[in-house]
Amino acid sequence: MMSTTEAKSTTPPRVLSGMRPTGKLHLGNYMGALYNWVKLQNEQSADGGRKYECYFFIADLHALTTDYADTSKMQENSHHVILDFLAAGLEPELSTLFVQSDVLQHSELFTLFAMFTPLGWLERVPTYKDQQEQLKEKDLATYGFLGYPLLQAADILVYQPDFVPVGQDQVAHVELTREVARRFNHLYPHAKGEILPEPKVLLTPSPRLPGTDGRKMSKSYGNTILLSDPEPEIRKKLKTMVTDPARIKRTDPGNPEVCPVYDLHKVFSSEETRRKVREGCTTAGIGCIECKGWVADAVVAELAPMQERRRRYEANPALVTEILQAGSVRAQRRAEQTMVEVRAAMGLGR
Ligand code: TRP
Ligand code: SF4
Repeated sequence: MMSTTEAKSTTPPRVLSGMRPTGKLHLGNYMGALYNWVKLQNEQSADGGRKYECYFFIADLHALTTDYADTSKMQENSHHVILDFLAAGLEPELSTLFVQSDVLQHSELFTLFAMFTPLGWLERVPTYKDQQEQLKEKDLATYGFLGYPLLQAADILVYQPDFVPVGQDQVAHVELTREVARRFNHLYPHAKGEILPEPKVLLTPSPRLPGTDGRKMSKSYGNTILLSDPEPEIRKKLKTMVTDPARIKRTDPGNPEVCPVYDLHKVFSSEETRRKVREGCTTAGIGCIECKGWVADAVVAELAPMQERRRRYEANPALVTEILQAGSVRAQRRAEQTMVEVRAAMGLGR
């Protein structure tokens, strides 16, 4: 027990990350982000306490930057994503879970950052032109879409976090965030040190996760396995998965190293199963159907506890609402601490 004379331990490093509400999440979303978030949430420090103070949120404003013309799915998508957060093992007692638009400080800081961020910085972010090319059917010549990474900088810096766990595709955005922080600190120096310390990227190792067609698993390719897919659906989808294209007949030996099914074995199966696959595949001792059955077993086993949790939360929508409400209050409180300093530094408030 801690005696009253003992110094209160310092707060653990803060971690913050977000995800756009794209609807029900798939295995790629899980391995690329959620899996790592849950690990960070559960890490313990030497004294048995939490190693990190975690904030995870649903970036619904970011969804609007590309989907402003059809907002009919916004509520539903956010609801599915929070269910998947909870199903994956994020716990409201251990992490602050909230929806971006419920915490107005994000939008306020975005507005203030807009005052001193050169247009060139935003035009040069690689995802800006890339995404405009890729999403040709949407008109993304908007102010909001150009501002996407600046809103992300506000999301991050409003919590003055130490670490931002993201995949490789988000590194440029965190880099911009650091530049914005530097410019802010330069323009508005503070006697007691920098108001917005530069956060570090915590690069999440994400194994290549192929979809059923062998391309990267992605909603836009229609090749996903959802965290919430029922077992028969998972088995059906995996049965149609592409394999080593050189293995045409059952009697042809195959090469697991070029087979997308084996990529899934690498992530989800035991070493024992992987050994059986390598042995059986290269000697034509097993068929691809059998091999896919084994990978389905592993995926089903991984998802079973998540689906059980999902069902519990699905049956109790009031609890989910309560969790987000409490999360947004905690997030607002922390964000407001930052904003008090930011407003004063920029000559606002009284
Ligand atoms: N842009 C991120 C993505 O597409 C989502 C995001 C929004 C985010 N704000 C963030 C991630 C802040 C980390 C920190 O995945
Ligand atoms: Fe791929 Fe398995 Fe078929 Fe080998 S046996 S080609 S690893 S699916």
